[in-house]
Amino acid sequence: MAGYFSYPSMELQMELKKTAEAIVAPGKGILAVDETNEGIGRLLAAVGLENTVENRRRYRQLLFTADDVLSEHISAVILFDETVYQKTDDGMRFIDVLKNKNIIPGIKLDLDVVPLIFSENEVTTQGLDDLAKRCAEYKKEGCLFAKWRCPLKIGDTTPSVLAISDTAHVLARYASICQSEGLVPIVEPDVLLDGDHDIVRTQKVTEIVLATVYKALNDHHVYLEGTLLKPNMVTPGNSCPKRSCAEEIAAATVIALLRSVPAAVPGIAFLSGGQSEVEATENLNAINRVSIKKPWALTFSYGRALQASVWNTWAGKDENVEKAQNVLIKRAKANGLAALGKYEIEEISDSRAATKSNFSANHKY
Ligand code: 13P
Repeated sequence: MAGYFSYPSMELQMELKKTAEAIVAPGKGILAVDETNEGIGRLLAAVGLENTVENRRRYRQLLFTADDVLSEHISAVILFDETVYQKTDDGMRFIDVLKNKNIIPGIKLDLDVVPLIFSENEVTTQGLDDLAKRCAEYKKEGCLFAKWRCPLKIGDTTPSVLAISDTAHVLARYASICQSEGLVPIVEPDVLLDGDHDIVRTQKVTEIVLATVYKALNDHHVYLEGTLLKPNMVTPGNSCPKRSCAEEIAAATVIALLRSVPAAVPGIAFLSGGQSEVEATENLNAINRVSIKKPWALTFSYGRALQASVWNTWAGKDENVEKAQNVLIKRAKANGLAALGKYEIEEISDSRAATKSNFSANHKY
């Protein structure tokens, strides 16, 4: 019968809400460094390094040991399983390095995608089976939040009703399990940039997907004040000939969110999805400047759009570490300002990588 439910205890609700609000504090956002070993392997190969545990650790150490000023703009970091257990050269756990900087550690919980049988060549995410156990383990290690990404592709017949309802169900199961174990779930339905569809189509698909996701979260009695959303921005497909300016993207994005995301959600932290660093910053800035009502904090949870210039500057060499850390701080600051709608074009990074598209078809993290 409808109307029977059980929410987390009041104490747990307060804890989840406090964490969620801290992650989207004004002028702050999330640094997403949860690339899988395969995903970071491609980046290491591009700078001529082997994909070893040690090289992955060296790169992530560079990010986490950047000057403390990083935490003026970065509230939280999303980690990949391996990184949770790694340490700096002098033996300090990465998680403690982050905590000492007042940065909240979180964990990627989805375990890659597999075909969604009888769909339109679409995918579903794995990882629900032992999720409560994994959540408890990461909480014990010091993580306070999690993320789970479900990609959906726009095509002539996609996303299908099946793929959208599967995404909503999986995200709701993930979110409720996370909350029961004391982790704030970041819910990430990612309508991909791949395709030649226009911005109007992306807007409608995004609205349908988000509305379906929030119905499922409601059905599963997820405590919305203790969640965050990580959606795509509403842009034209990557190969759509008709491009949109930042103001058009901002209006389409905020209208889509307003129509489908409850005001109880404290914050929305966008993924960058293949946009260049500069595009991702300018679009976020425009989103925060658009004069349409916005009941949530609107910020960033970027992977590629915070790291492309860092990789370029580091180039795998120890002597470039400090320079690369300064580039990270510069990108973080630009996005922190954009989260307040206060970014000025002159702030643009001087790195060539900053204006280069980060799009790759069928991108795998
Ligand atoms: P991008 O910003 O590279 O799209 O990464 C988003 C993401 O989900 C990583 O956690």
